Order: sequence, then C-alpha cells, then structure tokens
Amino acid sequence: MAELQIVNGRRMSFVDEGAGEALALLHAFGLTSAMWRAQVAELSRRYRVIAPDLPGAGQSEPVSPNASPMDRMGDSVAVLLETLRITRAVVGGCSMGGYVALALARRYPKSVRGLILTNTRAVPDSDAARQNRERTAQALMQRGMVELEESMYPKLLGPGASEELRKEVRDLLLEGSPVGSAAASRGMAGRLDNTAWLARCPCPVLVIHGAQDAIIAREESEAMVRAAPQATFVELDNAGHLSPMEQPSAWNATVRDWLAKLPR
Ligand code: MLT
Repeated sequence: MAELQIVNGRRMSFVDEGAGEALALLHAFGLTSAMWRAQVAELSRRYRVIAPDLPGAGQSEPVSPNASPMDRMGDSVAVLLETLRITRAVVGGCSMGGYVALALARRYPKSVRGLILTNTRAVPDSDAARQNRERTAQALMQRGMVELEESMYPKLLGPGASEELRKEVRDLLLEGSPVGSAAASRGMAGRLDNTAWLARCPCPVLVIHGAQDAIIAREESEAMVRAAPQATFVELDNAGHLSPMEQPSAWNATVRDWLAKLPR
C-alpha cells in the first residue's frame, strides 16, 4: 500500500513494509516502486523495505517539469529517509535507480550502510547518448509513453521472460507520466561519472549483473567491481535488464546472503 509524504516541497509516494534494518530500493527508468513487488513481499519479513516512486514516477512529482537530475533525486530519497526517521539504510538501485543510489551515497555517505547496484553503471552518458536522451524527452512529450514502449521496452527483458512478466512491464511503462519521464531522461543525461568516487566508497558494494542484459554491458558491471574496494560481483543467469523482476528468488537470495554478512 503506497503512502504519501511531502518531500522538499513535492509529493512523494513510497512503499514502507516490514521492520528492522532499512533497505531502500530505487526503481529503473519508466517504472515505479511496483517493480520491487517480489522484494517487498519477501525481504520485508526481515528488513524494513522502503521503495519510493522516484520523482516524476508513480504518484511522485518531478523535481522540476523540465529535468530531474540524479543528484536531486538522491536528495529527495535522503530527505524521505530522514522524514521516516531512518538514519542509515542499505540503498539498492536498478539501472536509473542505481544512478540515484550512487548520487545518494556520494552526497550522504554517513546515511548509507551498503550499496546494491543492479543492472546499472557508474559512468556518465557519452555525447551521443546525451543527445538521444533529449530526443527521447521531446518524443515523450509529443507521443506519450508509447515512445518508451517502442524504444526501450524491447530491450528490458531477457529472452526467457514470461508473457505475464512482459505484460506487467509493458503496462507499468504505459501507465507512466510523459512529463516525469522526460524530466528523468534529461536528468540521466546530466549525471556525473561516479567511478572515481566508487574507489573511495566507504561502504560495501554488491554489483548484480543480468547475464542477458541488453542495456548494461558486463564490462560496465565489472568496472564498478574493479573500482570499489569492498565489492562483491554476482551474475544472474536467465536475467536481462530487470533482474529483480526476472529472477526474483535468485536476486533476493543474493541480497539476503550479502546483507547477512554486512558489518553493523
Ligand atoms: C533504466 O532502465 O533505468 C534505463 O535503461 C537507464 C538508462 O537508460 O541509462
């Protein structure tokens, strides 16, 4: 059941389930907290799972109608956690959620106990990718979410994904807000290179890669593992870009094992 808070003057919706050490899970571009359904159901038996709709997604307002920079999204999540009286959390992000998790950890290192980077990268966009983000933002404003259905949806899931999961992901994408998604697209274009920061990252890092991820190359996942001093690498079979949704049992087991070994 989603809850609402005013965070930095803007409405933010989120799921808050379970009790104990906090685990904040940040969703991918075009999706919402609903992508973490299987994680909320299982991991909330042992942890307090907070899954916000990032600014511009679900019921959450964008940082601005024009652009939602990753650092600002990270600030919103940090303020949400503070509002919920959570002083330290493990923060996990999938793809764009990983960009936001990295921004949050870089800006609020004392608030982050551990970092889970799934199907994401630390490097910024190339010039060509930046131009493409702007094209996507404009196309979203002209055509609506069908733009993401055509340009991004075919790359999200691995070949083994069920029809049911394909429908769930497509429906989530089509329910999204074109304004919020355009702002997120522009926000991703401006993100910083977090590779050098990862080398100084004070907390343990778990990198999860989907063996069939068509968006994040294995090399990009491995580069984060090489950069971070306390990193663990896990590759999940039969998983594309949305490994938490495609292989929820394996993803949850990986995270549970890693969390159990985290220093207090
Ligand atoms: C995502 O799934 O969040 C996006 O693919 C990230 C990106 O486009 O860089």
